[in-house]
Order: sequence, then C-alpha cells, then structure tokens
Amino acid sequence: MIKRRGLMKKDKSIESLLKVEEVYEPPKEFREKAWVKDESIYEKAEKDWIAFWDEIARTEVEWFEPYKKVLDDSNAPFYKWFIGGKINITHNCLDRHVKTWRKNKAAIIWQGEPENDKRVITYYELYRRVCRFANALKNLGVRKGDRVTIYMGMVPELVVAMLACARIGAIHSVVFGGFSSMALRDRINDAKAKVVITMDGFYRRGKIVETKKIVDEALEDAPSVEHVIVYDRLGLDVNMVEDRDFWWDDVQYGSSWKCEPEVMDSEDPLFILYTSGTTGKPKGVLHVHGGYNVGTHITTKWIFDIKDDDIYWCTADIGWITGHSYVVYGPLSNGATVLMYEGAPDYPKPDRWWSIIEYYGVTVFYTAPTAIRYFMRLGEEWPKKHDLSSLRLLGTVGEPINPEAWKWYYRVIGGERCPIVDTWWQTETGMIMITPLPGVTKLKPGSATKPFPGIKAEVWDDEGNPCPPNVGGKLVITRPWPSMLRTLWGDPDRYIKTYWSAFEGKLVYFTGDGAKIDEDGYFWIMGRIDDVLNVSGHRLGTMELESVLVAHKAVSEAAVIGKPHDIKGEVPVAFVVLKDGYEPSVELKRELREWVRKKIGPIATPEEIIFVTKLPKTRSGKIMRRLLRAVLAGQPLGDVTTLEDEKALEEIKKSYEELK
Ligand code: PRX
Repeated sequence: MIKRRGLMKKDKSIESLLKVEEVYEPPKEFREKAWVKDESIYEKAEKDWIAFWDEIARTEVEWFEPYKKVLDDSNAPFYKWFIGGKINITHNCLDRHVKTWRKNKAAIIWQGEPENDKRVITYYELYRRVCRFANALKNLGVRKGDRVTIYMGMVPELVVAMLACARIGAIHSVVFGGFSSMALRDRINDAKAKVVITMDGFYRRGKIVETKKIVDEALEDAPSVEHVIVYDRLGLDVNMVEDRDFWWDDVQYGSSWKCEPEVMDSEDPLFILYTSGTTGKPKGVLHVHGGYNVGTHITTKWIFDIKDDDIYWCTADIGWITGHSYVVYGPLSNGATVLMYEGAPDYPKPDRWWSIIEYYGVTVFYTAPTAIRYFMRLGEEWPKKHDLSSLRLLGTVGEPINPEAWKWYYRVIGGERCPIVDTWWQTETGMIMITPLPGVTKLKPGSATKPFPGIKAEVWDDEGNPCPPNVGGKLVITRPWPSMLRTLWGDPDRYIKTYWSAFEGKLVYFTGDGAKIDEDGYFWIMGRIDDVLNVSGHRLGTMELESVLVAHKAVSEAAVIGKPHDIKGEVPVAFVVLKDGYEPSVELKRELREWVRKKIGPIATPEEIIFVTKLPKTRSGKIMRRLLRAVLAGQPLGDVTTLEDEKALEEIKKSYEELK
C-alpha cells in the first residue's frame, strides 16, 4: 500500500537530515486499474509533444472533419490548435454518448440545498433539454458568435444553458452567482451580451438569493441586452419586463427537442470567463471549442481516472473555471456521472458534504484546500458520522495546500486509501497543468508534483534563467498547450502584455505565480507574486478593490493587500485615506465594507479597514504594498530607502497595533 519515506535522501547535509519528507506511493490496486499505469507516458510525450497531442486529439474526441495540422505557431502568442478541424464540444458531451449504452446513464445527479430536492438527468434527457433550449435561443435571435451571459445558481439548467449556447455557436459568459449587480453589469457590457439567462432565485445556507432582482439592477445600464430568460426555481414573484423577459418554460414552448450542433471550427470561441488581474478591470479569458475539448477531456480522464461506474463530485461553483472544466465539459465529454450540489457545504449541519458522499456513493471527490481547512477546524466527528468508503480518489485545487491539511484530508476523508491529486492550473490554462497522475505519481504533501505529460513548466529568475533546485522564482509555461486561452476578449494587446511579456526577448507564458522545483523535479507553488489575492481559492485583484473603494465619496486613496488567514488562505485588508471633511469611525468602516460587498460581492469584503492619513509610497508615487504586508505580518521591513516619507509607516504600524 502507501509507504512513507523519511530521511532517505542521499544528500546528507544537515538541512536535509532535519527535513523529514514523506512520500506516498500510489496504492498497487489503484495503479492496476488506472487509465495511466505506466510512467513512460511522460517520456513518450517529451519525445514528440506535438505527436502526443495529435494522438490524443484524434483518438479521444470526435471531429466532424479531421484537422490538417496540430499547431500553428506562425502568429505566436496567438497560437492555433487543430487547424481546419471541425467540431462542436456538445457533440462530444452529448451526441456521442447518446449513440451508445450511455444513453440512459445518469449524466447529472442534482442535490438541492433542501434535502428533498433531488433530480437525476440521463444523457439522453440532457441531450433533449439542451437541443430544445438551443432552439429556443435561436428563436430569440441568438446566432453563432453572439454573446450570452448566464447568471444562475447551481442547478442543472445552468448546464443546459451553457451547452445550448455552445450547440448553436453562441459564446457563453457565465458570471458567478455570488457577484453583485455592478460586477454583473460590467461583465455584460464588456461582452456586449444579447441575452441574459438567469433564474428567480436559489438557496444558499437556508436563505434565498434573489438572482433576478440582481439582474434587473444590472440591466439598468446594459444597452446590448435584448432578452432575459428566467428559470423558475423557487416560484418567486419576480418582475418581468414585457417583451424583454421570458420564462424558461414559455420560451421553449413548442420548440423541437432535436437540434443539430453548429459545425464549429476548432478555433471558434466557446466561452468567455472573466477573471481578476492586476488592473481594476476584470479580464475576459477566451476559450475555444477544439483545444479546450481535447485538454479538459484528457485531463479529466487521466487525473481523475474517470470510469463509467464512478460518481464524480467536484464541489466548485460553475461560475469559476473549475466548474466549467471539471463539472461540465471535461466530465461530460468523458460520459461521466456528475454530482451537482446547490447549497452551502455546512448547511444545515457541518456534515452536509459527508452525508452527500455517503448517500450517493461518491467515488471521486475534488475540492479546495480552504474547505478542507474549514472542516478540519470543525472536527473529525462530522465526517466520522458517515461511511466514506465509496471514495477512491481525492483532489484539490485553487491554492497551495498546507501539508497538515493534506494529511487530514488523506487520513480522515480518504481513509488512508485514496491518492490525492493536488492540481495546479488557472482560468487561463483551461485545463490542469501541474498534477500527479494518481496511478503512477509518488505524492509529497503540499506539492502539485509534476507537469501533465506534454506540458513544459519551469521556474525562472528575473532574467529568464532557470532557477537551481529549491530556489524560488517565476513559474512559466514554455510551450503552448491545446486548452490555452486564445486572447482576452476585445483586448489582444493586454493578452500579450499580461502573459507573454515578462521576459524580454523570450516568448513564454508567465503565470503570475511563484514556485520552486525540488531535487526530484517536484513543483512547490508559492502563490501569486503579482497584485492578485487568493481568497478561499478565488482570485481578486487588489486594484479592483482599490478602485471600488476610491469610488466612495469619503475615500481619497486606498491600498489593499492580502493578509494570511488560517482557513481562507488570504483575506483582503484595506488601508484607507479619507477625504477632507470625513472622520474615521466604526460606522464608516462598516459602510465601506458594505460598499465593497455591494459593488463586487461578499467574497471581496475586506476583513479589516485601517484608516491612515498617508500611504507608504515610493518617490515616484507607487504604493509600497510590500511594506504594508510586512507591517501586518510583524516582519522586518527590509529596504526602505525608496520610501518617500517614513512617517507614513509609523502611523500605519500604530493604527494596526491599536486595531489588534
Ligand atoms: O495562484 C494559483 C492558484 O490559483 C490561481 C489561479 O486562479 P483561477 O484562475 O481563479 O483558477 C483557480 C482554479 C484553477 C493560480 O495562479 N492555484 C490554483 N491551483 C493551485 C494554486 N496554487 C497552488 N496550488 C494549486 N493546486
């Protein structure tokens, strides 16, 4: 079974002797049945990575017309994959399963937050629903290339809406249901969406989130939107604007349940997903039908070792990339049975997730370290109430997992039987990039292990030279991959500047993360090194928060930084300079927190607001966030020679001490 290894390194330096490194071997019985049981796959992919992707693309997904060339790098970094191929991702997620015995296999098992809200949707039923809804969209005038914004909670209709868009070649832009009306409006306007698909409301922790109301607010200033489709989840009495808003059922009335998929070029857009960056404006990451299908399909198959008898549960909300790739497209392309849960992890009791695993016999479970840390704190007694023996594989995503949480997950949830795949990737990468393959990779708690076959990741210093083992640097991807983002919606220059310009004269993809590689070639991700926060595995731009804060009438300047947090990983803390005529007060603090919550969403709410009269800046006027971070962490300040005015720091230290 799994062996632990300590003090086995050949290097006898004191440091390595003191470091007890545990290595977990893949269990023999897991390996024997795994899709990938032979490490030679890495070598094979390295020998000819183009041929490697070619073989996968040809054999793992179906094409209407074969592609003529695997990769076109003639206009890099606008790489193109599977040139000339014709495909539609919904054909691979639906039609090809419906042609087989999987026709009546469960595609989605849905559990609502109220215990008795349960539904099972087979592949054939999903196919019919998608086709019917696709026809309804066509009737409303939605055409290939049009953008459709989807703003919904976790219900199967959200999947239907996405697939229906993809089926007719429309580009979906799903906006996380926890975002505010302002955030939704910005995203609708940036994409110039023609239609918005939403619902009356959904449950979250026993309360109702009134989704349609939020959409109405967003649409007060969203001129591109012609129609709104509203799915009736709760029977709420919502405002329906005549000729603009239609009920989900009404809009489909009389539509056929057959709809041929639009024949898409490999490179035709599939979706836009907005993510936070280092500027105030969210970036519209664009993915396409061909490469995204290939990348998400094979990673789901090999990393989650998906088999036909699995009950697979990824707890991510579909509003994030993890939900797009590993709740919807990857698993459905593999014909898997996907569990989908509407509500909060700990509602009505802290054992809700574990009871769901037991009840449905979940076999593969994929979640975020923040959730694991939260459940760890609640205590083992909650998972212990349930028989979790159906589980055979566990996964994590979104942030580095601390070895303590890893071991708790391994022991308490996985019963010391299940390998854990710690998967590193991003909205932009579309698919998992650094990860164990559970049947072959030895695991080290806290390490995402190695790049997926065919992927080349490295850690570079500021000059673009590879760092020696165990020396931290910038994580870069030095070769294109099929499911890479193609551009930023409407902003190709920003695409080049953000991702491809970190090293002069070298065209590599810069991830924004710091990392180091150990002497065994294992990657240790150290987190973002740009001005992006990771709060509970969700990305937030510090500039985004700052621009919202300075939009408040009382605020003159703001600086936001991340403060380490036991459960959430990081939380935003805001330093605020008030305008003349405003005085710091508890009420104003509350008001500003509420302001951010309203403008962006609950996840962005600053944990603390610290009023100061001056921010630490360089002589050229740049806010020195590094110093703010050091003050919060009680660490040495390092070099302060570029600081314009040292008094600013003294005051910040004092305000922070008072707060504590
Ligand atoms: O900092 C890395 C962190 O999440 C960032 C990407 O965020 P997002 O695009 O929202 O996608 C999250 C889910 C794929 C990365 O730049 N991150 C993601 N996975 C890991 C991680 N950090 C460490 N370990 C991981 N496994």
